Amino acid sequence: MIYFDNAATTKDKPHEVIEAVSYALTHFGNANRGAHEDSLAASLDIFKTRKKLTELFGNASPSHIIFSFNATDALNTVLTGLIKEGSRVITTVTEHNSVLRPLYRLKRERGVALTFIGIDEGTRLDMASLENALQEGADYLVISHASNVSGNVVDIDRVAELCKHFCCLLIVDAAQSTGSIKINMQQSGIDILCFTGHKGLFGPQGTGGIALNGDFDIEPFRVGGSGVQSYLHEQPLELPTHLEAGTLNGHGIAGLSAALDFISRIGIDAIHEKEMELANHFLEGIRDIEGIKLYGDFASRHVGIVSLNLGCTDSAIVSDVLSQSYKIATRPGAHCAPLIHKALHTDSQGVVRFSFSYFNTVEEVDLGIRALKEISKHLS
Ligand SMILES: Cc1ncc(COP(=O)(O)O)c(C=O)c1O
Repeated sequence: MIYFDNAATTKDKPHEVIEAVSYALTHFGNANRGAHEDSLAASLDIFKTRKKLTELFGNASPSHIIFSFNATDALNTVLTGLIKEGSRVITTVTEHNSVLRPLYRLKRERGVALTFIGIDEGTRLDMASLENALQEGADYLVISHASNVSGNVVDIDRVAELCKHFCCLLIVDAAQSTGSIKINMQQSGIDILCFTGHKGLFGPQGTGGIALNGDFDIEPFRVGGSGVQSYLHEQPLELPTHLEAGTLNGHGIAGLSAALDFISRIGIDAIHEKEMELANHFLEGIRDIEGIKLYGDFASRHVGIVSLNLGCTDSAIVSDVLSQSYKIATRPGAHCAPLIHKALHTDSQGVVRFSFSYFNTVEEVDLGIRALKEISKHLS
């Protein structure tokens, strides 16, 4: 299988990730649940991973890295734990359901007011509308750094500057940018960032987290065992314990730790450059296909996602032919991002998403180009 579905999850992982998970499975006890060697080994590995993540995100303290099981879990924890009754929240039509559904629930249950920022003709976020909405007053902005449909990357420094100016707390969904685009929370002024471990970070599924750039009053979504202060009726207040009830995915975090070493060895800029080389090579090869429609602003900052349609053919059909006849994995449909599909008028057709990773090759991309050309010829 040629795997071009890396925005869903990266399938090819660095070999050291597999080795680290295997080592953890055979050597780790339960972190923070004992003083014996095997428990301490797990605790130390988890602490080291927090430290690596503070370096990745440019936030100050390992205690302000909270582990979760994916970006959805992280976003639910932050949005549900932080946003109070009657708050005003700005978000965008580019958001994934992992942002939209918690916000819709907050609207229903806490009377939270939601404002949605749209995209312009060129599929970019409408920055003028965002500035106007911030000027009118908002408590929170929840925004994805990179769209999982168009692949467009938001100018997060400018967004953070605006949020600071208008005193709005900035929560970033970095599910599609982490590992591909450099992020420095302190330099940019991002307050809270949610990430997932299994996409651009090349870690195992079941890993992800929250990076906090400061102290925020987040009510825990989940309470329970913490390994410390067991006689308290409440979840201990100190971080990260406050937001990490229950046994962590220590085995997955060990894999994530090895993945972070891999990323630091190769360098995020080199990873991004390779992904973009592949995406641009693909774009060059397919641009002239008759009836092709492309969704995204490829002249601006982008991640390795190319979404397209062949004429009016249902995206599920194209993706299915790619899979069945060419053994090429892509993702059709709505990608859990309903509002951007409405904005792009692709809500009934969907789009076929190709997403490239550092581990793909130019030869694979050439096969993808050839397959699309043949399918297009066959359709017409
Ligand atoms: C932009 C965006 N946010 C959030 C998520 C949710 O990530 P996870 O499935 O790891 O919870 C995704 C997953 O595709 C995504 O693309």
